[in-house]
Amino acid sequence: MRILIINGPNLNMVGIREKNIYGEKTYDDLCRLVSEKAAALGFESEIYQSNHEGDLVDKIQSAYTDFDGIIINAGAYTHTSIAILDALKAVSKPAVEVHLSDINSREDFRKLSYVGMYAEKTIAGKGFDGYIEALEYFKGK
Ligand code: DQA
Repeated sequence: MRILIINGPNLNMVGIREKNIYGEKTYDDLCRLVSEKAAALGFESEIYQSNHEGDLVDKIQSAYTDFDGIIINAGAYTHTSIAILDALKAVSKPAVEVHLSDINSREDFRKLSYVGMYAEKTIAGKGFDGYIEALEYFKGK
């Protein structure tokens, strides 16, 4: 199984940005953890990060031919991007939405998730472990 892990804007700043919310560990730490866990579960995986909405749409579209499942933390685009929702619908691959923080217990504007309108499952508020849980979800499918 080939899993695409997509991270949206500002997730490359994890470990630097708002440490009280997102923690002290860095984006490199996250990538290492996720790629090791994916390999341990027997998946092929690619981790992709971009701060640009169109690039995220392009990468999601690539899943049509190149991947069997998507794990996506779209960052702030979660709450605004109909284009990302449409791309997920277009490729029609199973997707799990992940957020480091609990988007439902923060500002009201974070409670709306376009990604969540497509995703089979949402994991929020579990930090890096949310990505591990998402990988395990695909293993159990
Ligand atoms: C986030 C939550 C979003 O609301 C925020 O814009 C982010 C990170 C998270 O992982 O908790 O950039 O997706």
